[in-house]
Amino acid sequence: MDRRLYCCTRTQQITKKQNEVSIFVKDDHSFMLVEEFIPNIPSKKIDAGSVGFTSPSNIALVKYWGKKPHQIPSNPSISFTLNNCKTETVLQFSPNTTDGFSFEVYLDEKKQPDFRPKIEHFFQRIFPYAPFLKYYHFDIKTSNTFPHSSGIASSASGMSALAMCIVALEEQLYSGLDANYLKRKASFLARLGSGSACRSIEGGLVVWGEHKTILGSSDLEGVPYPFEVHDVFKNYQDAILLVDKGEKQVSSTVGHNLMHNHPYAPSRFEQAHRHLDQLIPILKSGDLEEFISIIEKEALTLHAMMMSSDPYFILMKPNTLEIINLLWTYRKRTKIPVCFTLDAGANVHVLYPKKHAIEVELFVKNKLSAYCQNNQYILDNVGEGAERIKI
Ligand code: DP6
Repeated sequence: MDRRLYCCTRTQQITKKQNEVSIFVKDDHSFMLVEEFIPNIPSKKIDAGSVGFTSPSNIALVKYWGKKPHQIPSNPSISFTLNNCKTETVLQFSPNTTDGFSFEVYLDEKKQPDFRPKIEHFFQRIFPYAPFLKYYHFDIKTSNTFPHSSGIASSASGMSALAMCIVALEEQLYSGLDANYLKRKASFLARLGSGSACRSIEGGLVVWGEHKTILGSSDLEGVPYPFEVHDVFKNYQDAILLVDKGEKQVSSTVGHNLMHNHPYAPSRFEQAHRHLDQLIPILKSGDLEEFISIIEKEALTLHAMMMSSDPYFILMKPNTLEIINLLWTYRKRTKIPVCFTLDAGANVHVLYPKKHAIEVELFVKNKLSAYCQNNQYILDNVGEGAERIKI
């Protein structure tokens, strides 16, 4: 038996309540409880204190789109961890005087009651793995380095920063937890908050979702990409063009669910596996032509899935297409290996090697920014992952 998982059949004693929060139903209808991440009784008593972390956003190369219960992805994905688009979170804890979860959330020092349901849901999901959450009242003080209304998903950076803080509290309560365990657990918890968040803990390239060729890949947590990576990808650049800064038209959870019974879902999931396989030699050799072909296919397939679901959505805006066309013309003319990728929205991520940063950034500034809301864009690059804030 895989030591990381505790599997048991339906006949064993598992209460309905546990089933709701902590047990995965595997394809073979057995239950799966991730025993490794369930702590015992704390070895220390701490009344109050605070911990803080910054954690970045990430941009997927092979996209996660479609999930099963308990935040299990329908296909594996891989992303670059970013550097400049970050959430900073400080978790202040003091004794809890209630029976339930007790917390307040602040964004830029202002109370945010709107964030409460998401955090409450997150706490419920991770409670079996962090029972100490009920010992404390938390003040969760958070801010983003990017504008809140930029259309950049803050869930990956926000949930990963919060997961790091919770694991840092666990580290204070239990002795002998090693750094690798803590990072893995943070990714595991972050996934339960928002799937893509599990790819923001580690830096560089991170894989999430089981893939036959990628040893150690897991549906439960993000893992650093384990194979050789060409130098060109170590400091890849991402200019994020803010085409539409408005509220998301469709939440990612609703979007993922549209992949259930989607007529093209099986071939899409199979394509994601194939793209990851194809990326392995490309990431090693630095073959940018092949890289571009996979990255752009992934972005367009993601949107093709949304356009062909029921109900259907078009999340690109006219300016998204203008930018893509201008970028293709520029690439053809200059032979600079620049490409685009998209998230579940209208913004365009322009990806390029560091050695072309000066020319590409001039092109972004002089040409593409005209198609952005208020000419806004953010220059980012591959980063190191979550980091502790010294308090
Ligand atoms: C299009 O991680 O935001 O950005 O698990 O429901 O929180 P939830 O979804 P989320 O989905 C991100 C989807 C994507 C592609 C990707 O990042 O892989």
